[in-house]
Amino acid sequence: MNVARLNRVRIWDLPTRLFHWVLAVLVTGALLTAEFGAMAWHMRLGQATLVLLAFRLLWGFVGGRWSRFAGFFREPGHDWKGSASVLVMLAWLIAQVLSGMVADDEIMTAGPLRPRVSDGLSELGTHWHVAWGQWGVYALVVLHLVAVAWQVLRGRSLVMPMVTGDKELTEAAPASRDDLRSRLLALGLIALITCGYVVSIAA
Ligand code: HEM
Ligand code: HEM
Repeated sequence: MNVARLNRVRIWDLPTRLFHWVLAVLVTGALLTAEFGAMAWHMRLGQATLVLLAFRLLWGFVGGRWSRFAGFFREPGHDWKGSASVLVMLAWLIAQVLSGMVADDEIMTAGPLRPRVSDGLSELGTHWHVAWGQWGVYALVVLHLVAVAWQVLRGRSLVMPMVTGDKELTEAAPASRDDLRSRLLALGLIALITCGYVVSIAA
C-alpha cells in the first residue's frame, strides 16, 4: 500500500479562524434581524460586521502567510476558485455594510451616515442594500455552504482546518505565523479599528 507521508501545516492563524466564525454568526444575525424587523439589533450586528471586515482587510496585508491577499491563488491556502469566491464574498459584504450605513427606510430606521450624505446617495444605497445586496449575500452564503458540503462529500473537508488551523498536506509548505505576538497584533488592530469607528461615526 502506498501511504503518503502527511505534513501538518498551520494554514489559518487564530485571528483568521475567529474572524471567520464570528463573521458567520454576525451575518446570519444581520439577515435574521432584518427579516424579523429587529432593526436596532440589525444595525448593531451590521456595524460589528463592518469593523470585522475592516480588520480582515488589514489582516490580508499583515496576517499569517496564507491569510494574506498576496498568498491567495496559491495552494495550499486556496486554489483559484476558492480565492476568487473569498474575494467576491468579502467585497460583496463590504458593499452591503457600506450601503447599510447610508440606508433609510423613511419610517424609523436609518444608517448612522444617512445625515451626512445626499438624498440621492442614500436612495442608491438603500436600493442596493435591500435588493441586489441582500439577495447577493443570501446567494453567496448558500453557494459557500454548498461548496463546503461538496468538499466534505468528496472526502476533502476543509472545515477542520478552519477550526484547528492545520491542514494535512502531502508536500511540504511554509506555515502561517500564529504565535503570541501575531495574535496580540490582531487584538491591537481590532481594538484600534473599534475605537476609530466609535470616535468617527457612532460618537
Ligand atoms: C454566513 C455564514 C458564512 C460566511 C459569511 C462565511 C464566509 C467565509 C469567508 C469570507 C471565508 C474566507 C476566509 C478568509 O480567508 O478570510 C470563508 C472560508 C471558509 N468557510 Fe465560511 N462562511 C460562513 C459559514 C460557514 C460555515 C457554516 C462553514 C462550515 C460548516 C464554513 C466553512 C468555511 C471553510 C471550510 C472555509 C475555508 C475554505 C478554504 O479552505 O478554502 N463557512 N467563509
Ligand atoms: C452583512 C451585513 C448586513 C446584511 C446582511 C444586511 C441585510 C439587510 C436586509 C436583508 C435588510 C432588509 C431589507 C428589506 O426590508 O427587505 C436590511 C435593511 C436595512 N439595513 Fe442592513 N444589512 C447589513 C448591514 C447593515 C448595516 C451595517 C447597517 C447600518 C448600520 C444596515 C442598515 C439597514 C437599514 C437602515 C435597513 C432598512 C432599509 C429599508 O428597509 O429600506 N444594515 N439589511
